[in-house]
Amino acid sequence: MASRGPRRLTWSALLEGRTIWTRNAVVGTSVYGERRRRFKGIEHRRWDPTRSKLAAALVRAHGNKERLLPERGESILYLGAGHGTTISHLHDLICGERGEEGGRIIAVDLSPRCLRDLNHLASTRPGILPILADARMHSRWGMMLPHKINWMLQDVSQAGQAAMFLEAAHRCLASGGTALLSLKAASERWSDEGEKALFVAVEEELEQGGLIVEEVLNLHGLQDNHRMFVTRMP
Ligand SMILES: C[S@@+](CC[C@H](N)C(=O)[O-])C[C@H]1O[C@@H](n2cnc3c(N)ncnc32)[C@H](O)[C@@H]1O
Repeated sequence: MASRGPRRLTWSALLEGRTIWTRNAVVGTSVYGERRRRFKGIEHRRWDPTRSKLAAALVRAHGNKERLLPERGESILYLGAGHGTTISHLHDLICGERGEEGGRIIAVDLSPRCLRDLNHLASTRPGILPILADARMHSRWGMMLPHKINWMLQDVSQAGQAAMFLEAAHRCLASGGTALLSLKAASERWSDEGEKALFVAVEEELEQGGLIVEEVLNLHGLQDNHRMFVTRMP
């Protein structure tokens, strides 16, 4: 029997079995050593779920996976940008070649080493705006968002992740907007009840803080001891 081709998730993302590919906005280059491959003559990059929590969440999500992703041409906020692994794929999705789709990624990280890598990435991928700042200091990044946005993601490995996420979401997310929280258990203070209880407590904190928690994806196996909380602003 002939094998089925990849399924289109968005205009620039393909799902082939459990592997996700994004249409490479900078043809001929990889960002973190990922594989490249042509589909119908168009170069794509493999989005590695062991290197990106968003990719891991896409792999783990059932049904309509594209609900987790921002739209082409949107402005988005990413807190804890790291070295730009995930950001590079988001750039493929919302900015495209030479930034022609018009998307903007406000990429915040407090590490100067990360900022150096992000600035390098932004030099070939217009639409990425790296900011050296603590995610809690809204005054440092808030002015880059002239209006409320529809998509944000937080992936900072430090204690108090839920409180930080709630504050940022209320500051910048429009009604109906999607906010993803990648939560690493090891970064939080543990109670005796363990990891499961911690994730339940975080879910309650997010709901009491005014967000709708739509699903909690277990990333273990791809990103150990991590959950992705998929939330929406009412
Ligand atoms: C796990 S890494 C992010 C990886 C990245 N999200 C990716 O998928 O490519 C966590 C990052 O959070 C940053 N970080 C930790 N606390 C932060 C804070 N308060 N504000 C901004 N960034 C923070 C760290 O410097 C680190 O780069």
